[in-house]
Amino acid sequence: MERTLAILKPDCVRKKLVGKVIDRILEEGFTIIGMKMVKLDSNTAGAFYAVHRERPFFNDLVSFMTSGSCVPVVLEKVNAIQDFRKLIGATDPEKAEEGTIRKLYADSKEQNIVHGSDASETAIVEIGFFFSNKELVEITAE
Ligand code: RTP
Ligand code: MG
Repeated sequence: MERTLAILKPDCVRKKLVGKVIDRILEEGFTIIGMKMVKLDSNTAGAFYAVHRERPFFNDLVSFMTSGSCVPVVLEKVNAIQDFRKLIGATDPEKAEEGTIRKLYADSKEQNIVHGSDASETAIVEIGFFFSNKELVEITAE
């Protein structure tokens, strides 16, 4: 089993798409083991996307991520990180494959509905950014 961090971004909340996106994630076989609603401040959003600090889009990205509430979600599944990146599609919805979440719902390369961790090390750090171990549900064998 592998864990990944998804964030339903402020555009997803504003467009009332949280339910649809969560439904799709569950249909694709991911299990939700943690979920909350948060409003990020600039320091927190900047720290989360610190890897992009020198990029020209950084300030716009921080403004966007602090523009409303968002919903971090911890997902569990075999191959969760790669499978979730496939489910959300390319950063730019115009380049995303048909049927992916970004292709279906995103307006632009920046306002692209959802975040997904890109590697196992980043997933661990990103999950810890929003959730303590206590806040994650232990899945018991059925
Ligand atoms: P994410 O981290 O949110 O899952 O997105 P990603 O891996 O597909 O893309 P990344 O390169 O990590 O970029 C992070 C987020 O920054 C915004 N962005 N804007 N205006 C631009 O050229 C631009 N490029 C990236 C997007 O919100 C992107 O998801
Ligand atoms: Mg990224």
